[in-house]
Amino acid sequence: MYRFRRLRRDGRIRSMMQETRLHPKDFIYPVFVIEGENIKNPVASMPGIYQYSIDRLEEIMEQIKEAGIGGIMLFGIPLHKDPQGSQAYAADGITQRAVRYIKENYPEIYIVVDICLCEYTSHGHCGMVCGEEILNDETLPYLVNMAVSLAEAGADMAAPSDMMDGRVAAIREGLDQAGFTQMPIMAYSAKFASAYYGPFRDAAHSAPGFGDRRSYQMDFANGQEALREIAADIEEGADIVMVKPALAYLDVLREAALTFKAPLAVYNVSGEYAMVKAAAANGWIDEKRIVMENLTAMKRAGAQIIITYHALDAVKWL
Ligand code: PBG
Ligand code: ZN
Repeated sequence: MYRFRRLRRDGRIRSMMQETRLHPKDFIYPVFVIEGENIKNPVASMPGIYQYSIDRLEEIMEQIKEAGIGGIMLFGIPLHKDPQGSQAYAADGITQRAVRYIKENYPEIYIVVDICLCEYTSHGHCGMVCGEEILNDETLPYLVNMAVSLAEAGADMAAPSDMMDGRVAAIREGLDQAGFTQMPIMAYSAKFASAYYGPFRDAAHSAPGFGDRRSYQMDFANGQEALREIAADIEEGADIVMVKPALAYLDVLREAALTFKAPLAVYNVSGEYAMVKAAAANGWIDEKRIVMENLTAMKRAGAQIIITYHALDAVKWL
């Protein structure tokens, strides 16, 4: 009889047989930077996550440096919002200033910037608005300006998350024309309209003021369409493609990994984090074991990069 259990007998052989192993460089840690001074605001729905003003960033940046993780995903929260999201591409905008600060003080840390307008617009949508409609082509130049302005500030990678059609091609062209031919694009390619983003919208002050994002983000019922979105973004020049959220979409991630040879990222989003934290705080689950199981599953399904709020904890648990 073949006995599978021979290779499970004790920890020594089990660890040799382990097919998937997490590494600190697998992780990107999201960081929220808010305008103002001496601020470290806890995000109520995301225990352990804070909004930092630039003068308090040091605290978290030191931990990130120490952890040796792959990099950070930066989200700026401006004071001033308007219909065009002008602080998103202002040379002295909160995100631009944060990038400059991090570049200067932590040059070893890889800075990915989220390219989207929803934190910056007064209506909270990811693009320009006309009546109730979220405009596509009219939004593209603003996204290009945002990407170029953050590249000028010193960002290492641009990650468009808005889900407008054609934005990867537009941003690629804009970056190239501005001389940033070497800056990669990580496209949020298969980004689903998801209830799992709820806590993030508290953290980033980016909830839409009317309606929802279903006219631009994907219907969670659609797996084939996700593959077409990913194919389109690769065609437009994306260097890395992403599936988001993670856990309810591992089938999409797996199929993408088998279908495309492009580097793949997955975003383990705020609601997924909040659920784990809430259950752990109640003593209903073992946080460490659940987190390692979840993150390992994401890598096993095919992700090379895992964007996760658990990153700093996970590194301690490896
Ligand atoms: C901005 C953006 C969102 C997230 C990443 N970039 C929110 C949204 O689309 O509403 C979600 C991240 C998370 O939930 O952790 N468009
Ligand atoms: Zn957005």
